[in-house]
Amino acid sequence: MNPPVKDPAHVFIVGCGDVGRRVGRLWREAGIPVTGLARSEATLDAMTSHGITPRAADLDAPQTLRDLPVKGALLYHFAPPPPRGQSDTRLANLLEALTAENRPRRIVLLSTSGVYGDHKGARVDETTPPSPGTDRGRRRLDAEQRLLRYGKAHGVETVILRVGGIYGPGRLPEARLRQRVPMVPPEQAPVTNRIHVDDLARIGVAAARRGRNGEIYNVCDGTAGNMTDYFDAVADFLGLPRPPRIDRAEAERTLSPGMVSYLRESRRLDNRKMREELGVELRYPDLASGLRACRVPAEGIIPPVDPDR
Ligand SMILES: NC(=O)c1ccc[n+]([C@@H]2O[C@H](COP(=O)([O-])OP(=O)(O)OC[C@H]3O[C@@H](n4cnc5c(N)ncnc54)[C@H](OP(=O)(O)O)[C@@H]3O)[C@@H](O)[C@H]2O)c1
Repeated sequence: MNPPVKDPAHVFIVGCGDVGRRVGRLWREAGIPVTGLARSEATLDAMTSHGITPRAADLDAPQTLRDLPVKGALLYHFAPPPPRGQSDTRLANLLEALTAENRPRRIVLLSTSGVYGDHKGARVDETTPPSPGTDRGRRRLDAEQRLLRYGKAHGVETVILRVGGIYGPGRLPEARLRQRVPMVPPEQAPVTNRIHVDDLARIGVAAARRGRNGEIYNVCDGTAGNMTDYFDAVADFLGLPRPPRIDRAEAERTLSPGMVSYLRESRRLDNRKMREELGVELRYPDLASGLRACRVPAEGIIPPVDPDR
């Protein structure tokens, strides 16, 4: 396990939604003040009820990003890239606003395992070269590279988390199951990787304390499964029928483009570096234990999130 760095005096969470509130709550419990940045009133209100100071700004509107209170802070970037293009202009706007007099000490970026692209079910670790197969993945890779360059150029520490599918209370694919959206049979389904949102929040704190400067960590529970088994397990947990089956060719024709792109990418994420260097002991090392923990009611304001976003 890496030795811990000193806790920050202040935490600033950019894109402070579901994951951000959970990370913020952990820092608040450690006695550290937390500020969260978002656009919508609902998200800003939800922060207040978690003891997080809200800051309204829009990463697509650079003039709203002036004078952010981030000097010497631990900054998390949890906002997604824009919906189109191959670059993360939102992160670019943020970094541009962090001027010489106003730089954070460390930035932790939440990226996705989508940057690896398809590996036909093979194992990937952090030494595997990224090879995104979609613009969504390319935008994430652009964010990673942009952040690493920024950190080196300005002496700001950086840590990148490549996260698999996030699930947890309020973020199960219930609507999809109720709509009876079909899925391919298990033997035609890709290997997918998951992490319970509360384990992810604890990993976010561990990355701040023990992540090595300039390093990338895969984040998942280490129990990969196929996508169909995931939907079946969630259906059983919710007492809903399992999705009807269609074959791969029909899936390509009839499912949403987003889901089709997920079906085309199969890989088994290696989380050894995360376990060994960040020293996190997972509370939910597999889907069965994580689903049991989804019985707690979801927070009121959190919208249901598509788990494969
Ligand atoms: N779902 C998955 O399985 C998965 C897997 C890997 C990574 N991720 C990524 O993990 C991150 C955190 O996820 P999450 O569940 O916490 O998402 P979330 O609840 O949607 O939170 C993200 C926050 O970013 C804010 N945001 C978006 N665009 C913004 C902009 N232009 N300016 C300012 N704020 C902006 C949103 O604020 P408003 O509400 O005010 O718009 C939102 O509250 C996201 O980047 C997500 O894409 C997700």
